[in-house]
Amino acid sequence: MVGEALGTKLAQLGHQVKMGSRTANNESAAKWVKAGGASASQGTFADAAGFGEIVFVCLKGEIALEVVRSVSAAVAGKVVVDVSNPLDFSKGMPPSLAIYNTNSLGEEVQKALPSAKVVKTLNIVNCEVMVEPAKGGNPTMLVCGNDPEAKAKIVALLKSLGWKDIVDLGDITKARGTEMLLPLWLNLMGVFGDVRFGFKIVRS
Ligand SMILES: NC(=O)c1ccc[n+]([C@@H]2O[C@H](COP(=O)([O-])OP(=O)(O)OC[C@H]3O[C@@H](n4cnc5c(N)ncnc54)[C@H](OP(=O)(O)O)[C@@H]3O)[C@@H](O)[C@H]2O)c1
Repeated sequence: MVGEALGTKLAQLGHQVKMGSRTANNESAAKWVKAGGASASQGTFADAAGFGEIVFVCLKGEIALEVVRSVSAAVAGKVVVDVSNPLDFSKGMPPSLAIYNTNSLGEEVQKALPSAKVVKTLNIVNCEVMVEPAKGGNPTMLVCGNDPEAKAKIVALLKSLGWKDIVDLGDITKARGTEMLLPLWLNLMGVFGDVRFGFKIVRS
């Protein structure tokens, strides 16, 4: 869902996008490529990691680190945007967080990719809102990561997706707070019966 939403919007904005999957000929990715035209292509996770100047990690939380570790060499020196959440569905709904409080998936992704510049963002909204913030009432987007230049690059990319209110929280340890918003986000989704909303930070 996230890969398709981001990939579609980024291709529309003129970027070349390669969708990674477990298999090079994944059926859903093939449909997406067909609809996406010349800017869209598909491959394995390693193919996509090697192709991208910016690499998005939009993986199921439980397996994200395993996949990320497998493409470590391919993303050396690159900007990696971690959109994943460490949700554990093993005990049913609602999911719990597998990593929290003193650690985060964002930090583990950075540890697994020591020579990449990991930026955590977009994980606090549904993918429909990621690519069209107005659909969620123009919420605030939170960004964190250790490399200021990488964050500046991603903030510019977020603006091109339509994000107007963006807050830089600091280094990658700040991913803890954004990932721990997920239980609240899931609670609100149940209350609203809708995924098109977000968090808005207001101050005097
Ligand atoms: N859905 C949203 O709106 C939303 C919003 C914010 C954050 N997120 C987070 O973003 C991430 C992606 O979410 P999603 O909803 O797009 O889908 P998802 O089902 O959580 O993840 C799909 C991706 O995970 C891969 N995957 C699934 N099982 C795997 C396994 N056993 N081994 C290797 N790879 C596996 C899939 O590979 P294949 O292509 O090979 O199947 C695909 O690339 C999650 O961490 C989620 O919490 C989602």
